[in-house]
Amino acid sequence: MTHSPILRPSGQHALLIDGKAAAALITADIGRDVAASGLKPGLAVVLVGSDAASQVYVKSKGKMAAACGFHSVQIDLPAETPEAALIAHVASLNDDPAIHGILVQMPLPRHIDAAKVIAAISPTKDVDGFHPLNVGLLATGETEKALVACTPAGALHLIEAASSALGLKLQGMEAVVIGRSNIVGKPMAQLLLQRDMTVTVAHSRTRDLADVVRRADVVVAAVGRPEMVRGTWLKRGAIVVDVGINRIEGDDGRSRLVGDVAFSEALDHVAAITPVPGGAGPMTIAMLMQNTFVAAKRAR
Ligand code: GUN
Repeated sequence: MTHSPILRPSGQHALLIDGKAAAALITADIGRDVAASGLKPGLAVVLVGSDAASQVYVKSKGKMAAACGFHSVQIDLPAETPEAALIAHVASLNDDPAIHGILVQMPLPRHIDAAKVIAAISPTKDVDGFHPLNVGLLATGETEKALVACTPAGALHLIEAASSALGLKLQGMEAVVIGRSNIVGKPMAQLLLQRDMTVTVAHSRTRDLADVVRRADVVVAAVGRPEMVRGTWLKRGAIVVDVGINRIEGDDGRSRLVGDVAFSEALDHVAAITPVPGGAGPMTIAMLMQNTFVAAKRAR
């Protein structure tokens, strides 16, 4: 195995993929490149309502943007904001030359059609990569023109780092993506396909999920069900990226965060795995910074 700054021993068979360290390396590079570029990338994050988890995410996005030397704006709108008013905000951000990236935090209140709002964002400022144009560019493999969804882009970065440190070639290997959301599962499958992997997308209706997972050299779990993927399902030597962040009550009555994979069981089976927290999560924000910087450079 070659040395990698983001792989750490776990004390058991598996190596830990340190997403926090990987994200810190990426954002440090971005900060340095922004300072050298003379650009001031601008990121606007729009939060509708007061969902507690969304508030935490939005705050950390704003903080990281400022740390990278960006112009960072947060727009807080009340939960009862009409759809048309939200779209009007988006339109004014589309027209604002100081803003290069627009992110409308999901989920939105139920009276708002998220697809309509996403379609209203200029594709060139769609740093979430959710606009149908960016989704289409990813699907046709024109990623150099696209903005790619942040969570799958970050997961791919970790998979590539782990496979290269382990001396494995992704080409031709079996990947199983668990979850078919527009935000993670579908774009993740596209990215892995582009790396010439044989990709299976499994989901809540998949028959015998354990059997599907057992053949995977690379597993990306993004279902939002705490510890659903058991250690015995995982192939010896697999690389696992756990995108799930689930809050559960532990035996001591205190709440804690767990992923979609039964982490301690998996440590005994796989070659490398991301912890929760500290795995895929920090990479999402790093990729958002990267997309915003890319959008700013393209605007120039
Ligand atoms: N909610 C949870 N993850 C995301 C994300 O990546 N982007 C947006 N806009 N909302 C989210």
